[in-house]
Amino acid sequence: MKVLLLGSGGREHALAWKMAQSDRLEKLYVAPGNAGTAEIAGSPDLAVNDFPGIAEFVAKEGIDLLVVGPEEPLAGGIRDFLEADGRFGDLMIIGPGKAGARLEGSKDFAKEFMFRHHIPTAAYRTVTADSLDEGKGFLRGLTPPYVLKADGLAAGKGVLILNSLPEAERELEEMLAGKFGKASSRVVIEEYLSGIEISVFALTDGIHYKILGSAKDYKRIGEGDTGLNTGGMGAVSPVPFADEAFNRKVEERIIAPTVNGLRADGIDYKGFLFFGLINCGGEPKVIEYNVRMGDPETEVVIPRISSDLLRLFEATACGTLSEAAFETDPRSCVTVMLVAGGYPESYRKGDAIRIGDTGECLVFQAGTKQTGEGVVTNGGRVIAVGSYGKSIREALEGAYRGVEQVDFSGRYFRKDIGQDLMTYTDR
Ligand code: AMP
Ligand code: GLY
Repeated sequence: MKVLLLGSGGREHALAWKMAQSDRLEKLYVAPGNAGTAEIAGSPDLAVNDFPGIAEFVAKEGIDLLVVGPEEPLAGGIRDFLEADGRFGDLMIIGPGKAGARLEGSKDFAKEFMFRHHIPTAAYRTVTADSLDEGKGFLRGLTPPYVLKADGLAAGKGVLILNSLPEAERELEEMLAGKFGKASSRVVIEEYLSGIEISVFALTDGIHYKILGSAKDYKRIGEGDTGLNTGGMGAVSPVPFADEAFNRKVEERIIAPTVNGLRADGIDYKGFLFFGLINCGGEPKVIEYNVRMGDPETEVVIPRISSDLLRLFEATACGTLSEAAFETDPRSCVTVMLVAGGYPESYRKGDAIRIGDTGECLVFQAGTKQTGEGVVTNGGRVIAVGSYGKSIREALEGAYRGVEQVDFSGRYFRKDIGQDLMTYTDR
């Protein structure tokens, strides 16, 4: 099979690494890719939103399978674009069309979907500038803190959590007036849910699904979950508080109803589903859907899949996922993200990266670039260094040993990945 994977992060390096282990693979391309993916795949110079360029490449190279990493091309309708092109009747695509991608692209759509299909989530009200007073009324009926979400994609910045009512009312007005551009012309006001967050990932062919695994992500830049939000500073899989009873609730109340709901709504969904959940005293509720894998969650969930990922993708595209082999590795897996100094605010690019002997570690590159002088930093999140272990503790020891082997000027990482989970586990 000839495969084109879109994206350039640690997520894509992990997906490429796993696909490269398949005997079904004939040729792999990652576009635009990074220095890590370039070691195992071709790197055509194509932007993920360049649909005509991608179509020409698929035609010229005879690509059999397209795997879409990030959300933008999905929300922009890459599947619909290629399906409308008569040349690609046989092309297999992992990632939903525009209709399915609205689960991530519109918070209001996702909330309506969940209420329609009785999927547990926070109470909400969607408001526009015309219904500002109604929105303020809804806010007054809630108890603090207050959650305001821009309806559209806002590069992970569109969610505000505010402690006082006057603050929430002011922010609501500012959002509706364009604080996040068009993304916040509609705002979803939500009931605040308290509990620990967990992400669960599934792959679906629109009828059947495989639960790929769970992970906990560390979103804040500072230790003890302080400071600014980032794309993710590390991840752990599986999540120890997600015991059998919890996982059963997640499957019965959330995953199965989501897959069935999509089908009932006439949305043919073939791709990943990322459930951002919160554990409210043992009861899982959905905070958000994403229509792609998470980053850095992919770097811990994908290595725990022991089955052939390309065969799983083929089965997904053909609607035969229920027949595909799916096994997971019982070990824990963790990853620690090394980021550029200053991230998530302004940071430098172009610093030389030295990678020593990382032994058995899983090293997935993110913001890196190959130059004549070697590999240099090319983004905020630079490299994810991970490890398996019989316990989370053992995996963390392995990962942090690997971290010491990777260096670049200004390198920063959190030293407390996984520490909050130690109270739930002796693993
Ligand atoms: P989202 O982009 O919807 O995932 O929201 C970003 C973050 O805001 C989540 O990861 C949660 O930490 C927090 N959050 C979102 N919605 C809620 C809610 N209803 N209650 C509590 N926290 C929330
Ligand atoms: N790590 C969170 C995300 O990928 O959205």
